[in-house]
Amino acid sequence: MTHRILLLPGDHIGPEIVAEAERLLRALSADFGLDAELEYAHLGGCAVDAEGDPFPATTRRLAESADAILLGAVGGPQWDDRPRDQRPETGLLKIRSTLGLFANLRPAMLFPELAAASSLRPDVVAGLDILIVRELVGGIYFGQPRGLRTRDDGVREGFNTLVYGADEIERIGHAAFQAAARRGGRLCSVDKANVLESSELWRGVMTDLAARYPQVELSHMYVDNAAMQLVRDPNQFDVIVTGNLFGDVLSDCAAMLTGSIGMLPSASLDDGGRGLYEPVHGSAPDIAGRGLANPLATLLSVAMMLRHSLDEAALADRVEQAVARVLADGYRTADLATDPARAADTRTMGQAVVNAL
Ligand code: NAI
Ligand code: MG
Repeated sequence: MTHRILLLPGDHIGPEIVAEAERLLRALSADFGLDAELEYAHLGGCAVDAEGDPFPATTRRLAESADAILLGAVGGPQWDDRPRDQRPETGLLKIRSTLGLFANLRPAMLFPELAAASSLRPDVVAGLDILIVRELVGGIYFGQPRGLRTRDDGVREGFNTLVYGADEIERIGHAAFQAAARRGGRLCSVDKANVLESSELWRGVMTDLAARYPQVELSHMYVDNAAMQLVRDPNQFDVIVTGNLFGDVLSDCAAMLTGSIGMLPSASLDDGGRGLYEPVHGSAPDIAGRGLANPLATLLSVAMMLRHSLDEAALADRVEQAVARVLADGYRTADLATDPARAADTRTMGQAVVNAL
């Protein structure tokens, strides 16, 4: 069956790193039997410029009919003064909610060659390999009512609503238990059940679900403690599942433990196997157009796509092994290099991974 893959290069370094993903996908097609058809569309600032809308109808149609989507990154200072409906970030929020991409998978792993980049001591982060599963389309970022208003006494106030339905908790719970079953078999559910009713429900639903996954060991942790434990001893975790707001904060914290924003992939999945895959980093306007971008987070996002949406786990392993191989062989882009003068540029790194396949 031909996989239809939609590529959304986006803004600034986006097209540079997605070009390397295309190189990788074409090599997988030519030499390893991947049956894929690639399509392109606009999302973000480039879509505002070309079509007047950060998530145009043409992009939406292609996204809805694709088997998987790869995004570079969106955004940049030239769009910062636009009204909210013409901001690149609005395109990203809209594609996630339109496609129902509720399960955000963010692995944080430390390649042994890059241990020195971490802000933590090497003995604390050695072997780090954790996965944060964040609920992405509910919780306080979407809850109603929300707004700004003036109180009777004339003082302004802002308000948001943290609401989760049992159905929303259950579907992210299933995604997390399944991920834990595929990995080390340990799942830590993070909430604030000592203070929040929405967390009380969250904890209850996760506990009920645990009975259906006897191979997974479930534990619970309050979010403040989880933040502390991530920095104190991150290796105690295997998979963490949490809501939208807590997951936003904890996943950025976990990402930084690895010290290398150019290395971290992510997946955002619906309940039918379709996903949007993207590097965790942004569009890096400060280095765009100079061949300085590290493409590895994007290539590792392709590996996640192969595993989660295209049912090509063996090819996913092969891509991850190729990335490990080029690091072991000493290839470094400028963000990782100890001697930036001898760093590999974006294309050299992308080609090295293809050669290592
Ligand atoms: P950023 O992640 O783009 O950059 C932060 C720092 O990391 C910069 O110094 C950049 O040069 C460096 N960096 C990022 N990716 C790199 C790579 N692949 N290789 C080497 N160095 C890399 O975050 P920043 O500067 O806060 O945001 C820039 C723009 O990106 C903003 O418009 C922001 O809204 C957008 N953004 C988009 C995201 C997305 O598309 N999912 C996520 C985060 C930010
Ligand atoms: Mg964030």
